[in-house]
Amino acid sequence: MENLILTGFSGTGKSAVGKAAARLLGWEFVDTDELVVQRAGKSVEDIFAQDGEKTFRSLEREAIRQALAKQGAVIATGGGAFAQDDNRELMLRSGVVVCLEADAGVIVRRLFGASAEQEAEVRPLLAGNPAEREERVRALKAQRQAAYAKAQWTVHTDRLSVEEAAREVVRAWDVLRRKLPASAGPGRDGDLAAVVHSSAGVCPIYLGWGLLGSLGERCRAAGLTTTAYLFTDSRVGAYHAAQARAALEEAGIRVRVYTVPAGEASKSLEQAGRCYAWLAELRAERGHFVVALGGGVVGDLAGFVAATFARGLPFVQVPTSLAAMVDASIGGKTAVDLPAGKNLVGAFHQPRLVLADLQTLTTLPARELASGWAEALKHGLILDEGLVRTFEEDAQAIQRLEPAALSSALKRSAAIKADIVSQDERETLGVRTVLNYGHTLGHALEAATGYQRLLHGEAVAIGMHAAGLISRRMGLLSEEGLARQDRLLQRYGLPLDWPAGVDTEAVLSATQVDKKTAEGKLHWVLLEGIGRAVVREDVPPDLVRQVVRELAHTGA
Ligand SMILES: NC(=O)c1ccc[n+]([C@@H]2O[C@H](COP(=O)([O-])OP(=O)(O)OC[C@H]3O[C@@H](n4cnc5c(N)ncnc54)[C@H](O)[C@@H]3O)[C@@H](O)[C@H]2O)c1
Ligand SMILES: [Zn+2]
Repeated sequence: MENLILTGFSGTGKSAVGKAAARLLGWEFVDTDELVVQRAGKSVEDIFAQDGEKTFRSLEREAIRQALAKQGAVIATGGGAFAQDDNRELMLRSGVVVCLEADAGVIVRRLFGASAEQEAEVRPLLAGNPAEREERVRALKAQRQAAYAKAQWTVHTDRLSVEEAAREVVRAWDVLRRKLPASAGPGRDGDLAAVVHSSAGVCPIYLGWGLLGSLGERCRAAGLTTTAYLFTDSRVGAYHAAQARAALEEAGIRVRVYTVPAGEASKSLEQAGRCYAWLAELRAERGHFVVALGGGVVGDLAGFVAATFARGLPFVQVPTSLAAMVDASIGGKTAVDLPAGKNLVGAFHQPRLVLADLQTLTTLPARELASGWAEALKHGLILDEGLVRTFEEDAQAIQRLEPAALSSALKRSAAIKADIVSQDERETLGVRTVLNYGHTLGHALEAATGYQRLLHGEAVAIGMHAAGLISRRMGLLSEEGLARQDRLLQRYGLPLDWPAGVDTEAVLSATQVDKKTAEGKLHWVLLEGIGRAVVREDVPPDLVRQVVRELAHTGA
């Protein structure tokens, strides 16, 4: 059940939209009319004229069977094929069938003068009195309407560009595929980890080894073709900017590069101001786009600049740190820090696509890599026991960055984040809360240590250990469950122990355990089991104090 099949009347854009959808998915594109032409050795028009419609239909039937034998292809079919019972049944059994729809007037406008779009069978309709064309199209379309209605999804293309229609088709495939049994699999685009759905459209997340070279093509496929403003930091840029730039230029995209100093300090309004000035000087405008090449710092800063410059430029995330690949680049949150606090000024701005090249992880410092595992493992711990098992069983290969094991685990981890943010685009529904597992104490520890001693992932690992303990003490998580989590974190080089000499009271006050509990609103993400997070408001403040003091004691 892995093909995406397009049906619909001539002039609804099946070939053009099919090709664009195939590019978005990274799949093969097949046009059954082209297969017919190859087989017959003559044009569809000649087949109709010389051999008649019956011969055409039988050639078409064979071509459809040949195309449907594929797995993971986008298949455009002739406008009449889906009206044939046997073809239709086979198509519905072989994948997701999406019908492209358009108003008769629009169809006539598209067909008239656009000979490439004309199918032989409708050409006679367009001959004769132009005033009656629309009527004739409407009539033939009406005959087929009952058949078209049997498609699993319909995309109305009247007001959509080819690229927009293709995104809708991919969205249909994604939604319908989720309803299909898990055995239907993720399709053949090995690199597509997930798709984020939001009011801004769909955002594909590509994740795989050596993908950076395809950056230009993938931007083009997403409709980004003009000038790219590539933001990176001094460290990442030195390793990877040249390749990113070349990949964009090969695709005919003009590239300008801006490098900020590596480190959290670059996430400031001052730095954003310098970025704006640079964009203004280069006369950046709406049709242009921003590329963020780097970790979460570059992603947040460049994303914020893209969200706000000229009231919003499209942007592309090319995360190069593990934390950014599975977490920061997904979900559309962008921000800069103020002296008063982290991420205080920001905007939601969904990237048009995320492209994570796992090969770039080979230059990431070991401690940053370990820190990144915390978020990757967290996704399994909160929602996917199977992913935890994969991280356990393939631990050695994954940590050695062996491409197959690494990409399969990280794709699943990234897909969990994509799925959650798709359900709660603006973080208003509480669905994203589970992502905060380990973060209540993790953030407090980072704040209490002045963001100097611990990397974010390290603090989160300690926070997950503490949240696990609280889960255990509340009778939610078994002793074995807690031990299993902790073994996994340690195996990936993460700390569980409280850093020595940290002021426990400062940590407790940063969790706002007293203040928020007074309002009855401190939400703790806890585990009921591995892969099963719950959000609880009833954690006794005394229990939190007790666990924090115990941990601080063992750490000291
Ligand atoms: N927007 C979100 O939803 C979200 C979510 C989580 C975190 N964040 C933000 O992300 C930031 C942290 O992200 P991060 O951990 O990626 O930090 P980072 O961007 O500072 O990267 C960590 C360090 O690794 C370097 N680096 C990154 N990739 C490299 C590579 N491939 N080779 C060599 N060096 C490389 C960077 O230059 C930096 O020195 C924080 O500012 C945090 O607030 C945002
Ligand atoms: Zn985090």
